[in-house]
Amino acid sequence: MKSMVILISGRGSNMQALLKAGLPVAAVISNNPTAEGLAFAREHGIPAHAIDHHAFPDRKTFDNALAEIIDSYQPHLVALAGFMRILSETFVDHYQGRLINIHPSLLPAFPGLDTHTRALQEGVKIHGCTVHFVTSQLDHGPIIIQAAIPVLADDTPATLAARVLTQEHRIYPQAANWFLQGQLTLTENHVETGMACDSQKVLY
Ligand code: GAR
Repeated sequence: MKSMVILISGRGSNMQALLKAGLPVAAVISNNPTAEGLAFAREHGIPAHAIDHHAFPDRKTFDNALAEIIDSYQPHLVALAGFMRILSETFVDHYQGRLINIHPSLLPAFPGLDTHTRALQEGVKIHGCTVHFVTSQLDHGPIIIQAAIPVLADDTPATLAARVLTQEHRIYPQAANWFLQGQLTLTENHVETGMACDSQKVLY
């Protein structure tokens, strides 16, 4: 049976969506020992590890220790779900083609933080979220699936974030499921899907 490991840093609502979708989650790991998501994972019988990055002298040492825990589960897929640490090139290369991320914007627009505030400041009329394969460039990498929503005249960063999050919880399990079913591969930095899928549609 193919399996996945999820990396979180906080609330873990995307992790919950992946678990609720019935995906085979071998373990959840957080760089933040107080991440709320760890308790949810444990309550659902999923091994949950905290590995505090503050306890390591540098990024490389932390990434090596993180990879050691991940690899002890031999997962087919590693999913970043609100994992707010930049990962070293060595780490990313080690998981090339099986490391995915969810980001709260329609990439390549608004990489980085505060995506909803920036979308409102720029006056965009369409916003959304993206699941992509991870490369060493932050919030870049081949796009797997996106969901778009209209920006409403009275939106605040909070209302926009809430509607985008609903879409995140829909498309992240979809992408992970494609991968674990062998219907999604990264080839020469292009995403190939082996099925008729809805990844090209704009959904809201
Ligand atoms: C989500 O909105 C996710 O897209 C975002 O952090 C939030 C985590 O929420 N990730 C990034 O910004 C990564 N660049 P969650 O812990 O409830 O899943």
